[in-house]
Amino acid sequence: MTVTALRSSVITFHQDPFLVDPANSYRYLEDALVVMADGKIVSVDPYSDAGADAVVDAVGTRVPITHYPDSLICAGFIDCHVHYPQTQMIGAFGEQLLEWLNKYTFIAEQQFADKSHADRVSRVFLRELLRAGTTTAAVYCTVHPESVDALFEESERFNTRMIAGKVLMDRHAPDALLDTAERGYDESKALLEKWHGRGRQLYCITPRFAASSTDDQLAAAGRLWKEHPGTYMQTHLAENTGEIEWVRDLFPQRSSYLDVYDHAGLTGPRAIFGHAVHMDEVDFACCHRTGSALAHCPTSNLFLGSGLFKMTQAKQTARPVRVGIGSDIGAGTSFSTLHTLNEAYKVSQMAHGRLTAAHAFYLATRGGAEALYLQDSLGSVAPGYDADLVVLDLAPTPLIAFRMGFTQDILEKLFVLMTLGDDRAVRATYVAGVPVYDSARDEPFRYAAEPSALAPSPQTERYPGIPG
Ligand code: GUN
Ligand code: ZN
Repeated sequence: MTVTALRSSVITFHQDPFLVDPANSYRYLEDALVVMADGKIVSVDPYSDAGADAVVDAVGTRVPITHYPDSLICAGFIDCHVHYPQTQMIGAFGEQLLEWLNKYTFIAEQQFADKSHADRVSRVFLRELLRAGTTTAAVYCTVHPESVDALFEESERFNTRMIAGKVLMDRHAPDALLDTAERGYDESKALLEKWHGRGRQLYCITPRFAASSTDDQLAAAGRLWKEHPGTYMQTHLAENTGEIEWVRDLFPQRSSYLDVYDHAGLTGPRAIFGHAVHMDEVDFACCHRTGSALAHCPTSNLFLGSGLFKMTQAKQTARPVRVGIGSDIGAGTSFSTLHTLNEAYKVSQMAHGRLTAAHAFYLATRGGAEALYLQDSLGSVAPGYDADLVVLDLAPTPLIAFRMGFTQDILEKLFVLMTLGDDRAVRATYVAGVPVYDSARDEPFRYAAEPSALAPSPQTERYPGIPG
């Protein structure tokens, strides 16, 4: 039994602040002792010297306490929508969605036919997530099965809980990126059987979007999902007006974009719809009724000029929809959930909504876990939960340190952190109780298991094999 103990302040959410008084949605301890054993959180209590003395391992030896002063422990962030193959093309200039896909995305994704390329990008991707304090993500790979193996293999080394799948596309993309309804089904099934539930990895059936799958492929995806309860389904929904018109032309018999997916059996618990910018009341009601979740991707929606997510409508108390936060790398512009929350705040402001720090940090932690139906094991700092944690530095830059001197309470501090903070505010990231990222170490990343047992060689380069 490995026992680890941390001392810092802690914030955790146990209710949805969109549905209850935000003041009752969280628990904050200014000086706390968090004890973890065998990957789980054992206790979270106010710190006392007596309590600290009582932390012992299986043979009764006192466990040293790692103290993080001027810091805050939070549940590891959850990124509900991200494309790892697009790590190499963040910040591609000048286009809206459909042109951006053709000009940049479909070019980059063809490189993932080469497993060694997929391995290299997976290594960078996982490290950037962990550097940002993100411990779980719903990840799009490419159409190539090798791209899925690469991502899960690296995730397995860090022991992160990743939800990922092979992209399904059987039309409207370069030939090199197309499968067929049958091949997509067969390859997804083989990957699902290999990876779903292996360690902490979970499989996600991933039709890219309605425009790049035929009726047959969407139906096959729906069939596969139904045949494998507990697996996930992710796709894009109502992101861009040009895309929406195209989908209307491609599926004239369907009453809406969401109805295309509903008709194919692709709504329900563990369905994650990315973007969902241009939604009406019927769409939100369908998501509520079916238990489908939405991933709000503000940096991407601004970068591609897609539009403003309607958070207030999505979270209406009469029929709340599960909503998480997505970076949507590489249309999104930052791995940092803090930065993504900053943009989410501005998007809400544009719509005269008000995203408080409580709402924002809930979305990034427990809200994401609820969107993924993992709220019983992820997203909270509480006994029995997986010990996936981020340690946030409350004074990571001179400006933030100065600004914090003028704050009154923890919510004000959190709001400053999400407005001014980024990956520099992440001191350490724990995955299943192991500090896989520690910004203070010379080599900040460390695999959960002994690297020699899992990886071919230790990495000494910053980003092995990535150009530049
Ligand atoms: N719609 C279909 N594919 C994509 C993608 O890769 N990124 C975004 N933002 N939207 C999409
Ligand atoms: Zn996307």
